[in-house]
Amino acid sequence: MSLSLHKTIAVANQKGGVAKTTTAVNLAASLAMAKQDVLLIDLDPQGNATMACNLDKHEVTHTACDVLLDGLSVKEAMVYVPECGITVLPGGADLTAAEVGLLDQIARETRLRIALDKVKNDFNVIIIDCPPSLSMLTINALAAADTVLIPMQCEYYALEGLSALMNSINQIKDLLNPKLEIEGILRTMYDPRSKLTQDVSADLLEHFADKVYKTIIPRNIRLAEAPSYGLPIVYYDKTSRGALAYLALATEFIRAQQKAAA
Ligand SMILES: Nc1ncnc2c1ncn2[C@@H]1O[C@H](COP(=O)(O)OP(=O)(O)OP(=O)(O)O)[C@@H](O)[C@H]1O
Ligand SMILES: [Mg+2]
Repeated sequence: MSLSLHKTIAVANQKGGVAKTTTAVNLAASLAMAKQDVLLIDLDPQGNATMACNLDKHEVTHTACDVLLDGLSVKEAMVYVPECGITVLPGGADLTAAEVGLLDQIARETRLRIALDKVKNDFNVIIIDCPPSLSMLTINALAAADTVLIPMQCEYYALEGLSALMNSINQIKDLLNPKLEIEGILRTMYDPRSKLTQDVSADLLEHFADKVYKTIIPRNIRLAEAPSYGLPIVYYDKTSRGALAYLALATEFIRAQQKAAA
């Protein structure tokens, strides 16, 4: 790509289990395959993105908590993971402490943004995997990001959850981060045989039209298996439907950046 891209994307949805982590990890690895320098930040105390990238959340030397609370630089805390082709700022249980510890700190909402400013130019894309809440950690991610990528499952109540998320995004935009935009809404774990899925998907397109990615991520067992091998899907099974879908998402993402820059 003949585009000099430096973009920070928060992968967020306060609803649990909608494929935030699966999307953060697999979009990161797919973009790296397309020759982008990618930093993946695990901002979730569950540490799922860390484990999915072949790192042991109990063994890593530093985590995002050290950056948020103790002022450690991102450069010191991050690790390059050759098996995944990306750099990772690990996360783990200590992020729960960060959430509480941040409350009485100066610049508590913008600590991640301040830390990322120093490495932004070293990466084409920085992807932040958020926890399933609108906590101080997610606020830090949204305050640091240029855009938000929202994975969603086309199920009952999904649109209601989405409007709550949009309200929070608008608040952050007004108060902390005026440039924040929606990168895109991604339909995940998609089952085309379900009438409900089709109906929710149609509603989504009606309300959010061009914000919805054309790429749809199908339900695919290989995507669920890959994290237990510590590998993104493109390395675990590159011919699976899940791998092809995330590669297509990376292509759609890159094309959108090229179009925006043209
Ligand atoms: N397309 C898919 N097909 C099948 N399984 C999937 C798919 N996407 C994600 N999963 C599985 O669904 C579960 C939830 O996914 P994931 O952990 O990515 O969601 P999450 O939004 O990050 O969850 P949390 O809110 O707990 O952080 C995981 O077990 C994951 O492996
Ligand atoms: Mg997750």
